[in-house]
Amino acid sequence: MPSSVMPTSSSPPPGRPAASPLAVSAVGLRKAYGDKVVLDGVDLSVPAGTVCALLGPNGAGKTTVVKILSTLVTPDAGSARVAGHDLAVAPQAARAAIGVTGQFSAVDGLITGEENMLLMADLHHLPRREGRRVVAELLERFDLADAARKPAQSYSGGMRRRLDIAMTLVGSPRIIFLDEPTTGLDPRSRRTMWDVVRALVADGVTVLLTTQYLDEADELADRIAVLNEGRIVAEGSADALKRLVPGGHVRLRFADPAAYRSAASALREVTRDDEALALRLPSDGSQRELRSLLDWLDSVGVEADELTVHTPDLDDVFFALTGRPEPRREATS
Ligand SMILES: Nc1ncnc2c1ncn2[C@@H]1O[C@H](COP(=O)(O)OP(=O)(O)OP(=O)(O)O)[C@@H](O)[C@H]1O
Ligand SMILES: [Mg+2]
Repeated sequence: MPSSVMPTSSSPPPGRPAASPLAVSAVGLRKAYGDKVVLDGVDLSVPAGTVCALLGPNGAGKTTVVKILSTLVTPDAGSARVAGHDLAVAPQAARAAIGVTGQFSAVDGLITGEENMLLMADLHHLPRREGRRVVAELLERFDLADAARKPAQSYSGGMRRRLDIAMTLVGSPRIIFLDEPTTGLDPRSRRTMWDVVRALVADGVTVLLTTQYLDEADELADRIAVLNEGRIVAEGSADALKRLVPGGHVRLRFADPAAYRSAASALREVTRDDEALALRLPSDGSQRELRSLLDWLDSVGVEADELTVHTPDLDDVFFALTGRPEPRREATS
């Protein structure tokens, strides 16, 4: 999401400095299991009221970061503060400030969605009436009111994920950690989940989410931290990360192999894709450059069947940073 759409941080309470406080900060987090170094010095900071996406492939260490920040795992080295509380000193206070939706569902399938929610209300010691009110409101908000009295095991993946997040929100946490909130969801459910995250942020909640999807980080996050093999290899806004990679390109596709071959020989400085009958030319995508490119193609007699302008996306960033494409193909491992 472009940062211009994000709500600006609300005015600070009296007596507090105006600078946006950090909801989460971590310095030098290290964790190894036996010989395997899982986190190798991770620094992270998330200003209050913003969304930070921790982006990385399978095994990068995303869940380990979330577990450390939610006090479920103790790091071997490094320190972290959540909602101003040092995790090594006041883990309980930190825990009280956060809501965590784990990578794997915390929903009990044998009881109904509503019962799962009421259980959370009990865990948070909400008075019975207040608990019922909060639960009813959240079930409505997450479009689960109709299914509320059905066993959760009958829910679709998307409904279960929504229930998971609704359960996290029962205690009205101001900071939430979402570990891969949309993995396995269909495109429509993913969009619903994005709307849920946006609504949370509009309410001033701080969100740290992990994802394997570049488009998701691009859509939601103010800042993206790219985690690869236990290290943050880049950090910044989606736009800043995109600026790390060389410019975009124009892709020309041909229906006729003969036209493709003659174009390829006329335009020698291009990248060929013989299988797709497509040529790639570097371009910044600006109107001026496109105009001169089109003029040039005319002058050498090249007429493509399709022309697409490709601005660099986060896939290109991942490639530029790690030397390999974003490894979505490993998603089933
Ligand atoms: N309790 C544990 N014992 C041993 N190894 C572990 C443990 N927890 C995590 N690991 C290892 O640490 C590495 C990072 O795991 P982690 O779950 O943090 O990755 P991830 O980025 O969340 O991956 P995914 O996208 O698959 O969820 C993996 O190689 C994993 O096998
Ligand atoms: Mg994980």
